[in-house]
Amino acid sequence: MSRLLVTGGAGFIGSNFVHHVLDHTDHHVTVLDALTYAGNRASLEGLPEDRFAFEHGDITDAELVDRLVGEADAVVHYAAESHNDNSLDNPRPFLDTNIIGTYTLLEAARKHETRFHHISTDEVYGDLELDDPERFSESTPYNPSSPYSSTKAGSDLLVRAWVRSFGVQATISNCSNNYGPFQHVEKFIPRQITNVIRGIRPKLYGAGENVRDWIHADDHSSAVLTILDRGQIGETYLIGADGEKNNKDVVEQILTTMGQPADAYDHVTDRAGHDLRYAIDSTRLRTELGWQPQYQDFEAGLGATIDWYRENEAWWAPAKDATEAFYASKGQ
Ligand code: NAD
Ligand code: DAU
Repeated sequence: MSRLLVTGGAGFIGSNFVHHVLDHTDHHVTVLDALTYAGNRASLEGLPEDRFAFEHGDITDAELVDRLVGEADAVVHYAAESHNDNSLDNPRPFLDTNIIGTYTLLEAARKHETRFHHISTDEVYGDLELDDPERFSESTPYNPSSPYSSTKAGSDLLVRAWVRSFGVQATISNCSNNYGPFQHVEKFIPRQITNVIRGIRPKLYGAGENVRDWIHADDHSSAVLTILDRGQIGETYLIGADGEKNNKDVVEQILTTMGQPADAYDHVTDRAGHDLRYAIDSTRLRTELGWQPQYQDFEAGLGATIDWYRENEAWWAPAKDATEAFYASKGQ
């Protein structure tokens, strides 16, 4: 049994990871989360009290972080400002949390010699042309586009520097777009599902040709556990499940699954600097560490996600109006 400190565990992927760990291992989990607009305590309801603790606090709080990292066997670092559109509106919190927060955690991991796993994104590699036969791999050069992805790239580089300079026992993973339960309604898939539930037409940025490489959040969690168990210190692993789809196809699939005409959506103002395509080659994780995704059928996974949003309106409704008001102010 290990004691895991999970930062950002009240967010989308962090909460899915906490559920996955408590369901599939005997580890104890402490979540450190600031409960920003993106954190939701309700995502962590009903967990076993003898194996789970919640600490409300900020990853830039060095004293708190020092205490919690000192009590843990391993840190799994999910906490971040995560939304590209917000980073275009107000970049500053992205620097504070993604850069200073990661630095604060690394200093504590260095002092206490605590195993550290850093959660990152495929967006650090920039984007690909639609017809490019290459996909991102561990050797693709960093080329981030947005304030969000540049701060994630900066945080990855800090981790690498702390490994090399100070011998911190860290690994890094860069994952593609996640979908599943507990995702904030600002993100593409939950926004469109909850729009349809509310009778609002889905909103597609630009022409909708942009491609994302979708993976179920539960597969992301199993990959992170695999890296924690068997990953090589200092190494980076890309996580993906061969789920490339363009945004137009995803919106059409949501609409038809929800009983609406496939073309009942609006084209809205495109995102500034909008990355065209992400695609992950996860060969290294699969061949060296033996990981496999379980959710191979996107249509089935999306259907289950639609059901979850239908059944959990009380979870997402409090954030919906403010989210749509923000988008409306941007013409999106
Ligand atoms: P999210 O926005 O849903 O959740 C972020 C969580 O971090 C929230 O609970 C929030 O309260 C917490 N948080 C934010 N600032 C904090 C601070 N200063 N101190 C403590 N807690 C703080 O994000 P997500 O989509 O679950 O992403 C989690 C991680 O996974 C991020 O590091 C992100 O870069 C990475 N990632 C996300 C995706 C994706 O598709 N969403 C894909 C690859 C990687
Ligand atoms: O690739 C991993 C990244 O995936 C993570 O690092 C980020 O934290 C996560 O937010 C996600 O970034 P994206 O910008 O790809 O996700 P988002 O859900 O914001 O948008 C997905 C695609 O859908 C993107 O091409 C923009 C488009 N979009 C988004 C919204 C909210 C729309 O067309 N309409 C919308 O209403």
